[in-house]
Amino acid sequence: MARRLAVLLSGRGSNFEAIADAVETGRIPNARIVAVVSDVGQARGLARAKERGLPAFAVERERFESRAAHEAEIQSVLQRTAPDLVCLAGYMRILSPEFVASWRNRILNIHPSLLPKYRGLSPQRRALEAGEAESGCTVHLVDEGTDTGPVVLQKKVAIEPGDTEESLSARILEEEHVAYPEAIARVLEELESRSGAAQEAVHRGSR
Ligand code: GRF
Repeated sequence: MARRLAVLLSGRGSNFEAIADAVETGRIPNARIVAVVSDVGQARGLARAKERGLPAFAVERERFESRAAHEAEIQSVLQRTAPDLVCLAGYMRILSPEFVASWRNRILNIHPSLLPKYRGLSPQRRALEAGEAESGCTVHLVDEGTDTGPVVLQKKVAIEPGDTEESLSARILEEEHVAYPEAIARVLEELESRSGAAQEAVHRGSR
């Protein structure tokens, strides 16, 4: 059975596109994108999802009275589309602990720093200001903290003399587009082998 992916995004969507390309070319084997959800109706990523003929859902924050109601609608989209894995790709809202717990080990994020360094906003600028020799990106499982969950994969990028926030961000982004699909493929494999092992145990128990 094809593995099911959901992507949550708020903006440009270049990581989403890298994931979609990897699904199309089989670098994420045997998978399909079952939902692209955005809290921003005008997000470029959402428009690109529609152009690709993928199921795109605009769940704008301003249509809901509370953060809880907004998140409940996103949760309901996910329950209907039943992804195996939820991928945050530039999704700019904090998810509640309940939401995160309901997707435990099945929700990923990408962050443009070598975590645990520079959690939160503007990590590329902060790495430059700190005079780091290298930076990079991290794909990690999402837990209740901000950019704190277990690391799945990192890619390093050297910081060059004369780098600006823009030039460094652009080089990190190129690595993000390689790292995210690779991490997704890896996590899907692990989820499958875990569920295979669980089924095997049930099977053995019933004999
Ligand atoms: C990326 O830099 C990602 O690491 C961060 O948000 C940015 C999203 O870019 N979490 P895009 O929307 O995928 O182009």
